[in-house]
Amino acid sequence: MKRLKGKIAAITGAADGIGHAIAKAMAAEGACVVLSDIDADKGEAAAKALRDGGAEAEFIRCDVAEEGDIRAMIERTLTWGGRIDVLVNNAAVAIGGMPVHEMTDDQWHRLIAVNLTSVFRGCKYALPHMIAQGSGSIINMASAQGHIGLDGWTAYAGAKGAVMAMTRQMAVEFGPAGIRVNSISPGTIATPMNEGVIAQMGEAVARAWVKMHPMGRIGRPEEVAEAAVYLASDAAGFTTGVDLRVDGGLCVTPRYVPDLV
Ligand SMILES: NC(=O)c1ccc[n+]([C@@H]2O[C@H](COP(=O)([O-])OP(=O)(O)OC[C@H]3O[C@@H](n4cnc5c(N)ncnc54)[C@H](O)[C@@H]3O)[C@@H](O)[C@H]2O)c1
Repeated sequence: MKRLKGKIAAITGAADGIGHAIAKAMAAEGACVVLSDIDADKGEAAAKALRDGGAEAEFIRCDVAEEGDIRAMIERTLTWGGRIDVLVNNAAVAIGGMPVHEMTDDQWHRLIAVNLTSVFRGCKYALPHMIAQGSGSIINMASAQGHIGLDGWTAYAGAKGAVMAMTRQMAVEFGPAGIRVNSISPGTIATPMNEGVIAQMGEAVARAWVKMHPMGRIGRPEEVAEAAVYLASDAAGFTTGVDLRVDGGLCVTPRYVPDLV
């Protein structure tokens, strides 16, 4: 029995990386998936590949920094699927790698718009429909960096910490309506986001990441997707307000200062 059979799921940032892996995994478990992303070419191709494989998948271009795009993405999901069972607020940008006092206001505002305000808006537009249905599962992508410190990522960590706090608040507020709200905190995962960080900071950072994780490697997007499938499924029917860490043990290690030279 497929774990998400018949569920309608919308995923932001689904053209690549973790969001793409979540879309693929949810489709494989029988969900009808709405992929959305700022990158229309990649997103259309990703949705087509899923359809070619026999899944029900649609793509809508959505820049999560734009309120109208998020509203349209939720409306399109409802028009297409008739309901919205699962919302994955996944899209984010990695603006960091610099001390917080060297960050510009523009960088700060861009990060908060894409990584935090987007979560508020996704929930804002999905919740009325989930309340009317009497059910729903919202999954917000947080980060190990919302739990532990890493040089140069104060703003990113601040947004992720806020995502986790909002997740707990909404779990309390909407539990009585049958809506579950959880977050996932990945450790370092092999995605284009981190290819960008390596390009910015150098190969040494990639070696350091491996050393930081007790599992002795970084994670795969599919390993995060598996957690999202679980949280979306009825098997997690009594799980809400949780942050599920998929981090190879990163958050339970003492701070390890790698040799970056
Ligand atoms: N990769 C990691 O190590 C890691 C660790 C912890 C948390 N996360 C979180 O997981 C999520 C996914 O990260 P990833 O590594 O897959 O990222 P990624 O950069 O590899 O992929 C992100 C996807 O989001 C899209 N995107 C970027 N800006 C967007 C916007 N404004 N609107 C809509 N789509 C946009 C991109 O086009 C891309 O398809 C993010 O929330 C990230 O913060 C990632």
